[in-house]
Amino acid sequence: MNTFEFNKIAGAVLAGALIIMVINEVATLAIHPTYPETNAYAIDTGNVGASEIASNAVAAGPSLGILMADADIEKGAKVFRKCGACHTVEEGGANKIGPNLHGVLNRDKGAVDGFAYSNQLVDKGGAWGYDDLDVFLKKPSTYIKGTKMAFAGIKKASERADLIAYLRSLGKEDVPLPPAE
Ligand code: HEC
Repeated sequence: MNTFEFNKIAGAVLAGALIIMVINEVATLAIHPTYPETNAYAIDTGNVGASEIASNAVAAGPSLGILMADADIEKGAKVFRKCGACHTVEEGGANKIGPNLHGVLNRDKGAVDGFAYSNQLVDKGGAWGYDDLDVFLKKPSTYIKGTKMAFAGIKKASERADLIAYLRSLGKEDVPLPPAE
């Protein structure tokens, strides 16, 4: 790359950073205005509420329960293709690089006989509840440091919900869905 090209790219990056700073300033002003106790004249505060709700939603996102209520098992089966290289899901299916996942929802962690789990996973303890699966699948190495599952994770919350709905559909339909609130 020549210097001119480099300068162009550096310029674009700087301009981008500047725009983000300006947007940030404007957003802060828009979301945290100071109002007098009583309005001297009519102000439509509807927008303020809406943008506050929107910024909250972006920060936290809808709960797993809400996403699960809308989850799509068929889409989840497609997401599972990312897992299929290492996991089977049929009842009594073989262990591959990872353990068989039939009925993994609410199953104790590290419970498949004959699979050599990491100590870290076994030490985590408890069962694979909805939240455990959701947090683990988002980034396995964060939820269980030192896990043998070499998988980056699924960033998109709705994809994880579809996937968990698919796993639930395999013999664990009777496990009540998490509350949609
Ligand atoms: C590269 C191979 C690989 C991929 C891809 C992979 N896994 Fe795993 N998985 C593993 C291994 C290995 C373990 C055992 C981890 C340990 O012992 O620390 C595991 C463990 C698990 C466990 C815990 C099971 C138990 O019995 O406690 C779950 C749940 C799981 N994987 C789900 C998934 C899902 C869902 C996907 C797809 C999004 C996926 N994995 C993708 C290799 C993989």
